[in-house]
Amino acid sequence: MRLLFLGDIVGRPGRTVVCDALPGLIKRYGLDFVVINGENAAGGFGITEAILNDLIDAGADCVTLGNHSFDQKDALVFIERHDRLIRPLNYPKGTPGKGATLLKAKSGADVLVVNAMGRVFMTELDCPFRAVDNEISACALKHGADAILIDFHAEATSEKQALGLFLDGRVSLVVGTHTHTPTADARILSSGTAYMSDAGMCGDYNSVLGMDPDEPINRFLTRIPRGRYEPAVGPGTISGFAVDIDDKTGLAVNAGPLRLGPHLEPAVPAFWSGA
Ligand SMILES: [Fe+2]
Ligand SMILES: [Fe+2]
Repeated sequence: MRLLFLGDIVGRPGRTVVCDALPGLIKRYGLDFVVINGENAAGGFGITEAILNDLIDAGADCVTLGNHSFDQKDALVFIERHDRLIRPLNYPKGTPGKGATLLKAKSGADVLVVNAMGRVFMTELDCPFRAVDNEISACALKHGADAILIDFHAEATSEKQALGLFLDGRVSLVVGTHTHTPTADARILSSGTAYMSDAGMCGDYNSVLGMDPDEPINRFLTRIPRGRYEPAVGPGTISGFAVDIDDKTGLAVNAGPLRLGPHLEPAVPAFWSGA
């Protein structure tokens, strides 16, 4: 099975580049399942139902969230009626929506997608390690799910690496989100789990994390807010994680970055392009 994960979509540049390019990528590379982090899709803060539907129409099988899950308050309501939208599972009990979902891939395989949030330099939530462990124990690889994808929304690479190794051999892939900056460590861990500390963002990289740089620079210089954070408006670049999974084991056989757009050095994994 061939799987693509795309990092946080930031504002209109991110939405536009993903909605324009994704249908072609699915066709060209025969993708079976696509997951996108959408926590910054609506003007950098949260997601609307219309944007969610646009991403699903473009080919997203599942949309994950993070610390910005509920910046658009409507999400507290519409998340309840969408199977394909999940938020971090270690939010307090009673939080609307769910943190994991089992979906069918185009190949017919059952894919469990789990979204969790880290606690280092972030809001204190329940322990993400125990929360994910509980979830995948209830729906284990080859005993409920043919593939398991973990989006770990976290700041610290130490916490991300620890979760990757904690889950190695028990899930198909662990990919980090939240920093909006792709890391160069995409690989397959020793027991077969594909791992990348951060998928990067889909957005305008001529920015600070997708935002127009003026206000972030102002706040670092003066500590006095002068305006709102607004997404940068230049063309977007796609950044994500491409993984092939062995249908028999549910573990990864190929893993590498996918980057397309004007800002970053382009990367299409050779195992997809045949190059
Ligand atoms: Fe984000
Ligand atoms: Fe985030």
